[in-house]
Amino acid sequence: MNKSPDAQRMEKIVSLCKRRGFIFQSSEIYGGLSGCWDYGPLGVELKRNVKNYWWRVMVHERDDIVGMDGAILTHPEVLKASGHVEGFSDPMVDCRTCKARLRADQVIEKKGIQQCPNCSGRDLTQPRPFNLMFQTQMGAAADESSIAYLRPETAQSIFVQFKNILEVSRKKLPFGIAQIGKAFRNEINPRNFTFRSREFEQMELEYFCRPEEGMELLEYWKEERLKFYENIGISRDRLHVKTVPDEERAFYSRGTYDIEYDFPFGRQELEGVAYRTDYDLSQHQKASGKSLEYFDEETKQRLVPHVVEPSAGVDRTVLALICGAYSEDEAPDEKGKMETRIVLRFHPRMAPIKCAVFPLLKNKEPLVAKAKEIVDLLRPHMHVFYDESGAIGRRYRRQDEIGTSFGVTVDFETLGEKDAALRDTVTLRERDSMKQERVPVKDLPGILVSRIS
Ligand code: GLY
Repeated sequence: MNKSPDAQRMEKIVSLCKRRGFIFQSSEIYGGLSGCWDYGPLGVELKRNVKNYWWRVMVHERDDIVGMDGAILTHPEVLKASGHVEGFSDPMVDCRTCKARLRADQVIEKKGIQQCPNCSGRDLTQPRPFNLMFQTQMGAAADESSIAYLRPETAQSIFVQFKNILEVSRKKLPFGIAQIGKAFRNEINPRNFTFRSREFEQMELEYFCRPEEGMELLEYWKEERLKFYENIGISRDRLHVKTVPDEERAFYSRGTYDIEYDFPFGRQELEGVAYRTDYDLSQHQKASGKSLEYFDEETKQRLVPHVVEPSAGVDRTVLALICGAYSEDEAPDEKGKMETRIVLRFHPRMAPIKCAVFPLLKNKEPLVAKAKEIVDLLRPHMHVFYDESGAIGRRYRRQDEIGTSFGVTVDFETLGEKDAALRDTVTLRERDSMKQERVPVKDLPGILVSRIS
């Protein structure tokens, strides 16, 4: 069967991710560990750029939000109080024919009959709850008292530290606590490359407020979060806000919407924004016996704050960036013949490498020395890459394919050999337009920093 253009596009993206070192299957040499991925030299840069920009706009550029970094291993009482031990599950169905384990929503229905999506078998079990948390044991004892969990969301450590952070930060409502970190879910069927993984990273904000502000703040965060995605280069027309209907909302939520993205494999959630009311703090207050109240200086009243939670997936955002950036166009090769060019059109803010520096020829010492000088000049400001091997056109192509925003070439003009007025100038090439301009070396840091920040 012919693959759809979207499926072909996705295959090319997965293959590029491996070929150029963005994302590898975890434990690949042992056959792979399902639902786990490793980020290579370029993937880790892209991921850091996403996280750093989120941190910048959510924490550093605001007075009302502080950060934290909580432990992954979590006390079972935390997750009992939050409801995860009892209820954090997906309905699971077994296919008795091919033995596949399926999430109930993956079962297909043809002519009113439920079928296995793998083998079309109709002999399926009734759905039963499957808890998605990873349980582990701490210390030497192997009994009930040693159980711990890998956190299924970063949010709970924020709720549990609410009082400590309130005291040290002296913030007044409304204020937020932000966290970026790993979370773990034993997904029944991890799929769509890194989209649904068992180990993943979240960027979560818990924004605490008075009860009467909850619904308004839920709305406030919509535009803020859409702006974030636009500012990292995701076009608005690929983003969609879906109001989660009452019957699909988590039981603690009084309102939720998802920010979705048009991936090649369909429209899927990048981020959920939920008004969680005072559910979590009240639960932890009850279970721990410790007050998690806020004292309102103005009204002299104590209250358990409500909370609005924008919760974004790092890996999903990285995948959306790669999918959105992937493109093929035509560019002339060394002899002027048009060839297909693969280019990742990352926003310069997100590009793993901001600038590549090339001496025109590698066997001309003064060109190499000058190029290395420029690398040293730029390095304190950005991630740069030096490349002297192969024809200059091929070097550009290699950088286009990994999304490097700019290329600087040191040629004989730079050395002042052709025209003294051009001494200490270089060509600066922009990846998408392939346009080149001649700029003085001393101006390079300023020009580039203004374009990448
Ligand atoms: N904290 C919300 C979630 O992990 O989905």
